[in-house]
Amino acid sequence: MLGAQWGDEGKGKIVDLLADRMDYVVRFAGGNNAGHTVVCGDDEFKLHIIPSGILYPHITSVIGNGVVVNPRVLLEEMDGLRARGISTDKLRISCNAHLVMPYHLAFDRLGEVSLGSAKLGTTHRGIGPAYADKADRLGLRVQDLLDEKIFRTKVGTALERKNAILSKAFGQEVFDVDAIVEEHMEYAARLADHIEDTSLLVWRALEEGGRVLLEGAQGTLLDLDHGTYPFVTSSSPTIGGAFTGTGVGPGRVKAIIGVAKAYVTRVGYGPFPTEQENEVGEAMGARGVEFGTTTGRKRRCGWLDVVLLRYAARVNGLTGLALTKLDVLSTLPVLKVCVGYSYQGRIYHDFPPHQTIFHKCEPEYLEFPGWSEDITGAKTREELPPAAARYVEFIEKAAGVPVEIISVGPKRSQTVWDGRDLEPPPASEGPYLYREEFEPPCTA
Ligand code: IMP
Repeated sequence: MLGAQWGDEGKGKIVDLLADRMDYVVRFAGGNNAGHTVVCGDDEFKLHIIPSGILYPHITSVIGNGVVVNPRVLLEEMDGLRARGISTDKLRISCNAHLVMPYHLAFDRLGEVSLGSAKLGTTHRGIGPAYADKADRLGLRVQDLLDEKIFRTKVGTALERKNAILSKAFGQEVFDVDAIVEEHMEYAARLADHIEDTSLLVWRALEEGGRVLLEGAQGTLLDLDHGTYPFVTSSSPTIGGAFTGTGVGPGRVKAIIGVAKAYVTRVGYGPFPTEQENEVGEAMGARGVEFGTTTGRKRRCGWLDVVLLRYAARVNGLTGLALTKLDVLSTLPVLKVCVGYSYQGRIYHDFPPHQTIFHKCEPEYLEFPGWSEDITGAKTREELPPAAARYVEFIEKAAGVPVEIISVGPKRSQTVWDGRDLEPPPASEGPYLYREEFEPPCTA
């Protein structure tokens, strides 16, 4: 399951819906740049790095090797869950996942400052610098925590370069090897029992007939290769990342579900052809509560773009779509859907080969009548107003992928199940009623 737009598509609710039938939930990309708010009765949980499955006692939650792990944040989250009676004993962490080190946070911040007006609007969580060090073979892995000597050597090697840049290029304070080693050996002692070869673990589970959900973070258009580079994150939230980020082979996959909002939102900077900086965007933002819950930073809102959805379907080989927040569009008199981009007298029906086109194009829209009915109680497509059903039908035809799940409200019960292979979960609301992805704090 992965994001088909720019992240924040509502993947949390879909994981929640599918969790009942899963044995393992494996996060494959990103780090604590992502986040979920989980509301359970009067309780609210905020998770940044631990996979959503943790709240289900029957699920083994796995942090895959493609994730970058800030051990301080991870332990804080584990402590927070344990303090509220949620066991983290079954959490497994890949020995090959890379660590987000304190200097990565410093470099993320400095990188944004040095870009000036061209900044990306990153989450300042050190994600880009951690993945850059991984590619540069200067990174530290979770397994390095288990050998103090190796850990010290590797931190020393990294700091030789990092400190030189920090002091000479940026005039900043340098980092101290001993302090970093001391801090991380405390983390190591607490994390050691959770660290293992998670590729092997998941393979064994599959061999035994176990059901595994590979959980994406961020979204297709934030992918380092396939997204709107450079306004992207530094990992692969697309299908390839699901395999390299877990060590599970593609042949094991039964379904690839792309999650898309019934409209589009984006946080951070970068092109967004269908953005509505007007009362329509305001209405979507207000009705869809499109704010980062921690910072209050507004998400940019716009009309649905099926060129992008078709693109996401293509690069991910999607077998199904989960369409979220359809209810947010209720009462808008007319709905527009972007079906092409017009640039210098030419119409592009596919994701354009040059970013300039994407930056400067005019969207070509089709208009659809809206609906005024409350759809939050719909359980089947037949119960949707004809205009809403037509909107969904058009999306699946245009994207070339069946819409198998339609979310018409935040609760689990507020879902239309239409899957060929999917069946609705048991009638119970389940323990967790509401999940929403949120944008983590950013001081940019
Ligand atoms: P980074 O991942 O912190 O480097 O940020 C790079 C870009 O990805 C910025 O535009 C962020 O706003 C965006 N981004 C990163 N994580 C998420 C997410 O979970 N949801 C939505 N946008 C995200």
